[in-house]
Amino acid sequence: MAFKLFFFILLAPLLVRALEPVFNDDVLGLIVFKAGLRDPKAKLTSWSEDDNNPCSWVGVKCDPRTNRVSELVLDGFSLSGHVGRGLLRLQFLQILSLANNNFTGTINPDLPHLGSLQVIDLSQNSLSGPIPDEFFMQCGSLRVVSFARNNLTGQIPQSLSICQTLVAVNFSSNQLSGKLPSGIWYLRGLQALDLSDNLLEGEVPEGMENLYDLRVINFRKNWFSGKLPWDIGSCLLLKLLDFSENFFSGSIPESIQRLSSCSSLSLQGNSFAGQIPNWLGDLRSLEMLDISGNNFSGGIPSSFGNLELLEKLNLSRNEFTGSLPESLTNCIKLLAIDVSHNLLAGKLPSWIFKLGIQSVSLSGNRLSGSAEYSSLTSMEASNGGLQVLDLSSNEFSDVLPSDIGVLSRLQFLNMSGNHLLGSIPASIGKLKTASVVDLSDNQLNGSIPSEIGGVVSLKELRLQKNFLTGKIPSQIEKCSSLTSLMLSQNNLTGPIPAAIANLSNLQYVDLSLNKFSGSLPKELTNLSHLLYFNVSHNHLQGDLPLGGFFNTISPSSVSGNPSLCGSVVNRSCTSVHPKPIVLNPNSSNPIGSSSSPTHGHKIIFSISALVAIGAAAFIAIGVIAVTVLNIHVRSSVSRSAAPLELSGGEDYSCSPTTDPNYGKLVMFSGDADFGAGTQALLNKDCELGRGGFGVVYRTVLRDGRSVAIKKLTVSSLIKSQEDFEREVKGLGKIRHHNLVALEGYYWTPSLQLLIYEYIPCGSLYKNLHDGLGKSCLTWRQRFNIILGMAKGLAHLHQINIIHYNLKSTNVLIDSSGAPKVGDFGLARLLPTLDRCILSSKIQSALGYMAPEFACQTVKITEKCDVYGFGILVLEVVTGKRPVEYMEDDVVVLCDMVRGALEEGRVEECLDQKLLGNFPADEAIPVVKLGLICASQVPSNRPDMNEVINILELIQCPSEVQEELE
Ligand SMILES: *[C@@H]1O[C@H](CO)[C@@H](O)[C@H](O)[C@H]1NC(C)=O
Ligand SMILES: *[C@@H]1O[C@H](CO)[C@@H](O)[C@H](O)[C@H]1NC(C)=O
Ligand SMILES: *[C@@H]1O[C@H](CO)[C@@H](O)[C@H](O)[C@H]1NC(C)=O
Ligand SMILES: *[C@@H]1O[C@H](CO)[C@@H](O)[C@H](O)[C@H]1NC(C)=O
Repeated sequence: MAFKLFFFILLAPLLVRALEPVFNDDVLGLIVFKAGLRDPKAKLTSWSEDDNNPCSWVGVKCDPRTNRVSELVLDGFSLSGHVGRGLLRLQFLQILSLANNNFTGTINPDLPHLGSLQVIDLSQNSLSGPIPDEFFMQCGSLRVVSFARNNLTGQIPQSLSICQTLVAVNFSSNQLSGKLPSGIWYLRGLQALDLSDNLLEGEVPEGMENLYDLRVINFRKNWFSGKLPWDIGSCLLLKLLDFSENFFSGSIPESIQRLSSCSSLSLQGNSFAGQIPNWLGDLRSLEMLDISGNNFSGGIPSSFGNLELLEKLNLSRNEFTGSLPESLTNCIKLLAIDVSHNLLAGKLPSWIFKLGIQSVSLSGNRLSGSAEYSSLTSMEASNGGLQVLDLSSNEFSDVLPSDIGVLSRLQFLNMSGNHLLGSIPASIGKLKTASVVDLSDNQLNGSIPSEIGGVVSLKELRLQKNFLTGKIPSQIEKCSSLTSLMLSQNNLTGPIPAAIANLSNLQYVDLSLNKFSGSLPKELTNLSHLLYFNVSHNHLQGDLPLGGFFNTISPSSVSGNPSLCGSVVNRSCTSVHPKPIVLNPNSSNPIGSSSSPTHGHKIIFSISALVAIGAAAFIAIGVIAVTVLNIHVRSSVSRSAAPLELSGGEDYSCSPTTDPNYGKLVMFSGDADFGAGTQALLNKDCELGRGGFGVVYRTVLRDGRSVAIKKLTVSSLIKSQEDFEREVKGLGKIRHHNLVALEGYYWTPSLQLLIYEYIPCGSLYKNLHDGLGKSCLTWRQRFNIILGMAKGLAHLHQINIIHYNLKSTNVLIDSSGAPKVGDFGLARLLPTLDRCILSSKIQSALGYMAPEFACQTVKITEKCDVYGFGILVLEVVTGKRPVEYMEDDVVVLCDMVRGALEEGRVEECLDQKLLGNFPADEAIPVVKLGLICASQVPSNRPDMNEVINILELIQCPSEVQEELE
């Protein structure tokens, strides 16, 4: 007994299972189907082969009577794979919807053979290949089929017309080609036929008279041609007809007037011609009528006024003549009207503003007279919903309505290309939602109202080709979304406000052909999205900003500004750079201003000293007066930094007392130089030279000590004041016998001076090449110069400063003959060590530049200085420039020396002026050292400490020989 019970318990589940209807085909079919799929979102995890029936599975529905699968709806499950054969097991399936997945492969021709399939939707997959002819051969009870948005090719099978049960066919958005099946209209039960967006061609056959149920016919965007079937109007229930974007021709078939249910008719983009029949206005259900882009001509029938349900009317791009019928005022539901690019004349009808229309485009007609703006005010009450108003390219000749601001929902306003007069009304500032305002190519005068700042959504402002005057209001900076600012061909004046540099989305700026003056704000380089910036033909002056977009600006975008300078316009800025001039503090007229009779300011010498830094060009209009005020430099003040106020640095003609812009002068040492009663800080002007970073002047302090003042010409690239001062103070701490000492600096946002110790005997270049020295440098002097330069550079490298700009004009010789390397560390003042800027700044250093500068991928290290040093060594011993230009030849020094070394005639290369007075056992190793330093490969070059060791060994030749062989 116990044994029997145990046996029963053991077998019970098996027995129960055996009694159940079946482990049916549906489970098997679906599992087989699933097995062929990829299911990246694990949507089908509920599908388990252990279940007895699939009725509770996701996407599966069963007929409650039979418990068999009747619906399979897996739309948007991200499934991929083939629509597999497993589905053919689902003998009771009625609805199969696999839309919006990633199914691939071809369409299974057997699917409709499933006993009772009625709906099959495979739209929005990646199915390819042709639609199989067998598919519709025995289509059973198939009613709805959609293959829309796949990649199907080939023709629509002729067998389609056999499938009489079909109600809806959607093959839209494939690549089906060829002609329509001739029997397509045998499908009497058809309600919707969507073949849009394929490559179908040929004529649409006649014979539609029996399609009583057809409601939707969409043939948009194919290559159909010929006339529309004349009997299309037999399909009395048609609501939507879309034949747009084909090659249809002829006129609108008369029978269409019977389509009283038609709500949407689109014939856009064909070659229909002729007049619009009056009866079109009797299609009273029309909500959308688009016959744009055809060759229709004649007048717009006034019967359109009967279309009381019409919401969208597009008659654009035809040849309509006459005027807009007044009757349209009855189309009270109208939301959008587009009659642009026709030949319409007459006045702007008042109903345009009275109805609740949101979008009006009348552009490109011959409408004239004054717009009936008086109705604008009433608009606000009626609806105020106008969002798009395009009246461009007509012949309107009125003033802009002063209350245009009532169009408070306007997003797009285009009145360009008319003859509008008067000024831009201030109420424009109330157009808070406007993103495009285009009033270009009119005859507007007056100035741009500052209220423009209220148009806070503005993206495009186009006011070019008018007669506008005055300044760009700085309030424009409130239009922070602005991308296009087109103001060219007006008479605008004043400076270009730095405020526009805050419009960080700007892409297109055209200010050309105006009368803008002043300099270009260097902040403009912050505009990182700029694609186009044209300021040509104005009266701008000063430096072009450097950096960002302005490094690549095309010369034509800045041309026609005679006083603008910079490399782009091929005009050196130095000519307008102020030079220090002498001012006699005891006179109210500065010395040198004899050439400026107009200058009548009484300069106030409040305390002690006055420095003027002015260019001849500027003296005519005023004096750049940099007055040193408050030089209360007590001996107790720290020696390292004694800030002094300088005024007048900005507004050159203002007296110091009214000028809020104060510069800052800091001397790192030498407070003694500003003793009581100091008069002029600088008392003599003398240009010493120019380099990539600035122009250098010599001046003499009152105590007789000379200094060299470098005016930076890269001021537009200089970092913030804080960064500048930190870097400069760092450089000021560097003291070495072979480095030019930085004594102080002067800062204003637009002018930076560096004050250096003055080195009396000129540059190495002058000493070598200018025959300046009475007697030429001896070998011993040359050797000491080489060794001194090496020591100076080694010191720089030790404190992690790369010079970048080594050349003989940057090495100065002091009265004892010792070399002093200058101009170091200036690259640090630039915001980024941009190779492009660096090489443009040091391009004058032709021949000294290490080859890796040309190679974007190689990191620039201090070895680039070693290269420049190597070239300097060769220059010193040969007395030749790194690159010499002969009659029709270019001699590159290091190549020449290397060649001579290989041929064993180095000694011939040494400077002829030495007259053979050199020890060969020093000179030849030095030449070799120079060549090694100038190796093409950075890692082959020694570092500067090694160079010093080698040079010291060369003085004891016996020990150095092995090192260099
Ligand atoms: C189809 O697959 C691609 C990746 O292969 C995926 O990005 C896309 O979303 C999928 N589409 C659908 C409808 O799941
Ligand atoms: C359709 O086919 C074309 C080539 O015939 C292919 O480039 C395209 O990616 C396919 N599109 C889809 C959605 O599979
Ligand atoms: C045809 O299918 C496409 C894509 O699924 C759909 O957008 C369109 O509305 C369908 N056409 C009709 C007439 O239902
Ligand atoms: C600018 O003003 C001058 C007169 O000052 C006038 O001749 C010229 O036509 C004006 N140009 C524009 C574009 O308004």
